[in-house]
Amino acid sequence: MDPWGHLAGHFGIDLGTANTVVCHPVRGVVLNEPSVMVVSSGTKRNQTMKPLLVGRPARELMGRTPLGMTAVRPLHDGVITDLESGRTFIVAILRKVALKPMERVRPRAIIGVPAGANAAERRVLIEAAGKATIGRASLIPEPIAGALGSGLNPLGNRAHLVVDVGGGTAEVTGFCFGGILASRSCRVAGDEMTLALHHYLRQEHQILVGELTVEDLKLRVRDEQGGAMVVDGLDAGSGRPKQITLRTEEAIEAIRPTSEGIVQIIAACLEELPPQAVSDVMQDGVLAFGGGSLLRGFDTLLEDAFGLPVHIAARPLTCVAEGAALCFDYPDVVRAYGG
Ligand SMILES: Nc1ncnc2c1ncn2[C@@H]1O[C@H](COP(=O)(O)OP(=O)(O)OP(=O)(O)O)[C@@H](O)[C@H]1O
Ligand SMILES: [Mg+2]
Repeated sequence: MDPWGHLAGHFGIDLGTANTVVCHPVRGVVLNEPSVMVVSSGTKRNQTMKPLLVGRPARELMGRTPLGMTAVRPLHDGVITDLESGRTFIVAILRKVALKPMERVRPRAIIGVPAGANAAERRVLIEAAGKATIGRASLIPEPIAGALGSGLNPLGNRAHLVVDVGGGTAEVTGFCFGGILASRSCRVAGDEMTLALHHYLRQEHQILVGELTVEDLKLRVRDEQGGAMVVDGLDAGSGRPKQITLRTEEAIEAIRPTSEGIVQIIAACLEELPPQAVSDVMQDGVLAFGGGSLLRGFDTLLEDAFGLPVHIAARPLTCVAEGAALCFDYPDVVRAYGG
């Protein structure tokens, strides 16, 4: 007997700039990997791409790809810019998640798309999915999927405000009763936070460190209780190996200014909401998700700026894909917000 019944080959997909998450309506999260591929540098435009590595192993090679190989990120600012790399990436992730051959036969997908994506960007995503042999692809705005995946009802008559801080972009969206009330985005998110820490290390400690090392330091700030972290890199002047100690407080302070852009788009969105919706948000608070929301102190920073409660989603990195998969059970949500 087929334990997944009619839902075999149904997937909720969050194609993020930094990470791609795939969720099956019954099996739960089946893939959570960096959105990176390593391809042969010889691949010409319009030629079928064959990835050498996909996801985690590809990311591990970033910054150290040998000659003849290139690391490709198929998404920029949450959308596919190159049809062929988008197609190749979707084919590769479907191959990883489809356990049985029948799941590969024209699977169905509900794919998250930034609320601010335009018609052309949506079309490219649908086209890439079609070329990747997805039988039927529907789109759902990522903030709506993330809200649904975190237990909110996007069809209810109370207004909600959600903040999604991803790798490349932060998006703030207000919605109510099946419709979007306001949406803003900015290009300041997780990657920019990493960059801020990178600059700080170079300026204040005269040390150069690789991209992966800085990102790792940023992630460690969350768990490092009042301590310090040892950082290995190269002396910015002499190029010799160098080791320093970075206090977590320093790291937090170095990253903090990047949150200013996010505060501004929240303010702009709140201004656009009708008064009744603002009072719902003041009472219920803001829901934050996306990896950037995990930065230590992110919730209190927003609470201090706006005087309203901020709730970090229970699963900030996977709730968009989980919500997209839930949409198979709530087709009204796709009908109301999709397209
Ligand atoms: N504990 C953490 N502390 C700080 N930042 C974190 C943490 N965990 C993940 N991040 C950051 O979150 C970002 C990735 O978040 P996420 O996976 O939500 O992005 P994405 O959905 O791929 O991107 P986008 O939504 O922009 O397309 C990265 O910049 C990563 O460094
Ligand atoms: Mg995202």
